[in-house]
Amino acid sequence: SPVIPFVVAVDGPAGSGKSSVSKEVARRLGYGFLDTGAAYRALAWHAEASGVDTDDAASVISSLASFDYRIGTDPTGYAVHVGETEVTDAIRDPRISAVVSRVARVPEVRTYLIEQFRSSMAGESRPGIVVEGRDITTVVAPDAPVRILLTASPEVRAARRSAELVGSSTADVGEQIRRRDEADARVVDFMTAAEGVTTVDSTKLDFDQTVEAVIGVIRSFQPVT
Ligand code: DC
Repeated sequence: SPVIPFVVAVDGPAGSGKSSVSKEVARRLGYGFLDTGAAYRALAWHAEASGVDTDDAASVISSLASFDYRIGTDPTGYAVHVGETEVTDAIRDPRISAVVSRVARVPEVRTYLIEQFRSSMAGESRPGIVVEGRDITTVVAPDAPVRILLTASPEVRAARRSAELVGSSTADVGEQIRRRDEADARVVDFMTAAEGVTTVDSTKLDFDQTVEAVIGVIRSFQPVT
């Protein structure tokens, strides 16, 4: 019978570093890595590329029928494809960030993608998988043995994001993050830790210390063998 991979669920707001931290944690542990936000971004890209008005939920739902996407789970080099097109970088474009919340708020979209995430998790061939998003600890994998909420102060999140985005001010990025979190939080609450979820606050930690803190939490939940 197939071995069930050890699931580490990580949620957090924009700019908390959860993607880069989760990826590095997965790499060090030899686990797979699933970026669920990338699926919502890929759908936003697909909708835009198909001329769909992302403000119209019915059109977004229709676009699911032609949404053929693939996201790898290799933490050392995962790629995102929509059909034959590689969109790994394109889905990070600020244009996509600006509209992704509109597709992510559609319940039919969430139901569809959540099923996809669960089958990726179940199909993981590595001994574990780090799954990262907004509703992983609460909806996608509430039974995961390790559930973490990765947070950081709004100021630190804005500073980290603007360091990634060349030529943008921290104030502008702070405002974009604030707006996106506000829109996303109407759909799922990722700012407060649900029962049984361990909070890791990275405000005063650098990247490496955050990775170590997350691995520490995982170790504390792993059965000693
Ligand atoms: O983590 P990210 O910025 O790449 O996520 C992109 C968008 O997708 C974000 O605005 C919220 C949404 N999202 C979601 O609703 N649920 C998830 N599990 C992951 C992302």
